[in-house]
Amino acid sequence: MSGSAFPGATPDPQAWWRGAAIYQVYLRSFADGNGDGVGDLAGLRARLPYLSDLGVGAIWLNPWYPSPMADGGYDVADYRDIEPAFGTLAEAEAFIAEAHGLGIRTIIDIVPNHGSDQQEWFVQALRAGPGSPERERFLFRAGRGENGELPPNDWKSIFGGPAWTRVPDGEWYLHLFAPEQPDFNWANPEVVAEFHDVLRFWFDRGVDGIRIDSAAVLIKDLDSEEESYTDHDGVHEIYRGWRRVADEYGGRILIGEVWLPDQERFARYLRPDEMHTAFNFDFLACPWEPDALRRSIDLTLATHVPLGAPPTWVLSNHDVTRPVTRYGRADTSFDHADRKHGMPSDPVLGERRARAAALLAMALPGGLYVYQGEELGLPEVEDLPDEARQDPIWFRSGHTDLGRDGCRVPLPWSGDEPPFGFGAGRPWLPQPPEWKALTAEVQVADPASMLTLYRTGLHLRRVLLGDGTMTWLDAQDGVLAFRRESGLICVVNLTGRPAGLPPHESVLLASGPLDGGLLPADTAVWLRGA
Ligand code: GLC
Repeated sequence: MSGSAFPGATPDPQAWWRGAAIYQVYLRSFADGNGDGVGDLAGLRARLPYLSDLGVGAIWLNPWYPSPMADGGYDVADYRDIEPAFGTLAEAEAFIAEAHGLGIRTIIDIVPNHGSDQQEWFVQALRAGPGSPERERFLFRAGRGENGELPPNDWKSIFGGPAWTRVPDGEWYLHLFAPEQPDFNWANPEVVAEFHDVLRFWFDRGVDGIRIDSAAVLIKDLDSEEESYTDHDGVHEIYRGWRRVADEYGGRILIGEVWLPDQERFARYLRPDEMHTAFNFDFLACPWEPDALRRSIDLTLATHVPLGAPPTWVLSNHDVTRPVTRYGRADTSFDHADRKHGMPSDPVLGERRARAAALLAMALPGGLYVYQGEELGLPEVEDLPDEARQDPIWFRSGHTDLGRDGCRVPLPWSGDEPPFGFGAGRPWLPQPPEWKALTAEVQVADPASMLTLYRTGLHLRRVLLGDGTMTWLDAQDGVLAFRRESGLICVVNLTGRPAGLPPHESVLLASGPLDGGLLPADTAVWLRGA
């Protein structure tokens, strides 16, 4: 699958993103090239042929900047360089070029809500003191109480604990996430200009897209006693500015991380002069139930189609429970507030449903995200030793919420025991010994593996699916069936019993063996229409 062209159903190369399959690389857990137990660019570059063979059109990398890693790199100390544990700027440029050579675009993660307490601006702000222009880049306030000993308001951090931390001179600064992640002041034009410059820095280096972290929370009303930071109207002006920068270049895109329950509000981020796309978290969080899935798909289409924006279909990422674990539980929904850690999960059922969900997500019109390890069917690792855990959610919840480390365990590539070809060193999170059955090496040779399902599905998807429209077909209760423009029909059986298939010419791909002419429960199939 090499060559310089960008193959796929989309004729306009500028619109590559509308139907792309985008693979999410959590760099520190992907592949380790230098043996220090942490994934890096050398490891990723060495594994590019794997991603090319998988059939993805783009790679989204989580933050790769210098970072003290208080939040896995979402505490950015320098927006214009690469974390030394990951490599160098020159290696990043080489990676972008090599990926392009394979027809794979690069999307990077930009974190505009907050930086790191080690970032130069914050260091300067602490030094410059109250009332200084340096402090105006952040959200510093005097405290309440007789001696300012109480925080300016009672807002809570999203990771738990207070959202304010006091500095030695007595002022407090706001951090919606960890104390090591001070929030920027987006009312300050210097902040606006700085991020435009950062965007240009990376677009100039060939980056094709920007994933915008925590995109909806940049504007705050600090006078409100109630937490008031989600989805203020003022954010849209920020993204209009970003869009103008992106449009100075051709074919570069903005993708929002926008968690909003209200689809009408969500759609505002996708207006033609704002972001190109946003992650579909409604679908990600949806339980494995036919009516809920159909509702989520319809809602997604109703939100996107009038705007001309392609939907995205996401089953997992570095913040949520791995699908094979989630779908094997009695409650198959996802909720940040209750991750259901420890709820029993049936691995056979979970895998069966995750396979069917993969074919469903791949068949829907628009873009697709695949989080590394999803294609290997990795489960959530729920029994990590406490001393290995690194997620700030674990620390800030007083060790009551296990957080997200369980979906971030380094990938198993080959061999019979850890580190499973991840690298020469001891991986930064321990891998379960059972993963010897799930290595890429084992799965690539197995026609029935999850990896083979993803590879076959993604290659067919490039030709027959991606951007476009869909039409629901009549089907019995509990069966989802729809047709795409190419004539491909996708049928998913959520009835709990075998179901009949609609008329068809041939079976292109199935998530599990068919039962004579019947589609077994929790199985999906792609058919060539009659
Ligand atoms: C986003 C990221 C998450 C991070 C948070 C703070 O939600 O996906 O991993 O912890 O923002 O930057």
